[in-house]
Amino acid sequence: MAASVPSRTLFPAPPRHIKGRGAELKTLARTVLATAPARLALVGAGGSGKSLLAAALAHRIAKRFPGGIHWFRVGAWDFRTLTEMLALRFGTPRDRHALVPGIRRYLAAGGDRLLVLDNHEDDHAMARFLDALSGTPASFVITARRCLLAGVLVYPVTAPLITSGKSAFPRVSTLTRVLRWNPLALDIADAIVASRAASVDELAIFLDAHGIASVRVIDHEDDLPEVALLVAWAWKRLTPAARRMLGVLSHVEGDSVDVTSLAQLAGIRAPGDAAAAIRSLERWHLVQEPMRARYAVHAVVRHAVRKRTKVPPGRVFDHYVALLEAHPDRLMMEQTHLFAAMDHAHRIGNLDAMLRIERLLQQLEEEATR
Ligand SMILES: Nc1ncnc2c1ncn2[C@@H]1O[C@H](COP(=O)(O)OP(=O)(O)O)[C@@H](O)[C@H]1O
Ligand SMILES: [Mg+2]
Repeated sequence: MAASVPSRTLFPAPPRHIKGRGAELKTLARTVLATAPARLALVGAGGSGKSLLAAALAHRIAKRFPGGIHWFRVGAWDFRTLTEMLALRFGTPRDRHALVPGIRRYLAAGGDRLLVLDNHEDDHAMARFLDALSGTPASFVITARRCLLAGVLVYPVTAPLITSGKSAFPRVSTLTRVLRWNPLALDIADAIVASRAASVDELAIFLDAHGIASVRVIDHEDDLPEVALLVAWAWKRLTPAARRMLGVLSHVEGDSVDVTSLAQLAGIRAPGDAAAAIRSLERWHLVQEPMRARYAVHAVVRHAVRKRTKVPPGRVFDHYVALLEAHPDRLMMEQTHLFAAMDHAHRIGNLDAMLRIERLLQQLEEEATR
């Protein structure tokens, strides 16, 4: 039954530098425990700190969930993919009729569990999913940039310290107002200033000259000029290799990418060049490292970078499908890329691609239930 990648490995580490959330964490911890099995949605703009808050909250109350804390990035997956993802993680049956009863049985035994569903985007899929699992002792914490769900406690997340007017980032405190308290933007600005690549004043002048104060309609909650302008500042100073890596990470739909795949997808041959490119992206906090030597970009950075880059989805599909066919031992670790490949195969309606995916899914299922 034990899947070869334990849930703990897939859960983000307790955030070390979280600021200005003491009171909120206390309230949320008490609320989740008092209403368990709870359904709580942390809702707010991109980069406002929902995922960090969810991770901190889950670690804080983990002891009260003997069945463990489990992290799933749900994105816009449909109901079927959502349930398959749980079944594969928990090692429960995957065939259509046994899928939901299997997960319910699993959640009913082995002690209360806390599931964090990160980056929720599809209300219909989520409503069906939560309803299908209601009545089990599992508690859910959802993060979402918006959430139109009844039967869920919605807790609005605003930028840390915005209500007190203080700054969570002393080095760039004079940019707090300009960057509208957004912690993601402030964190990137802080990293740029710490690297001495620009002073606070130089960044302020750049932001002002590029229209940080102008009013415009945005595409959605992840379209933040505060972050896009910092990406624009960095873009001019990154090497072509680093830009290609950032481009790849912004187009990949799976969760995180290891160094080897990242270098291959970005067309970087020399390992030294790949390492240097990653270092330059890390230096300005443009990438995250959710697990050791695995990289991802924040949804808001992704949105800004996607506008500047093109990566054919077929290239990512080919890479991961070939990789997993050659190395089935990697299936558990790279499973979100398999889901993304499945989604791609469905979208292009290619039967051969779907059959290749189905074979890999079957192998993953065997692995998960072994
Ligand atoms: N309370 C906080 N204290 C310090 N930095 C924060 C805080 N919340 C968020 N951040 C910074 O902002 C970034 C984005 O936060 P995240 O939780 O990923 O946002 P969201 O999930 O709302 O998009 C984090 O990586 C971190 O650098
Ligand atoms: Mg998030």
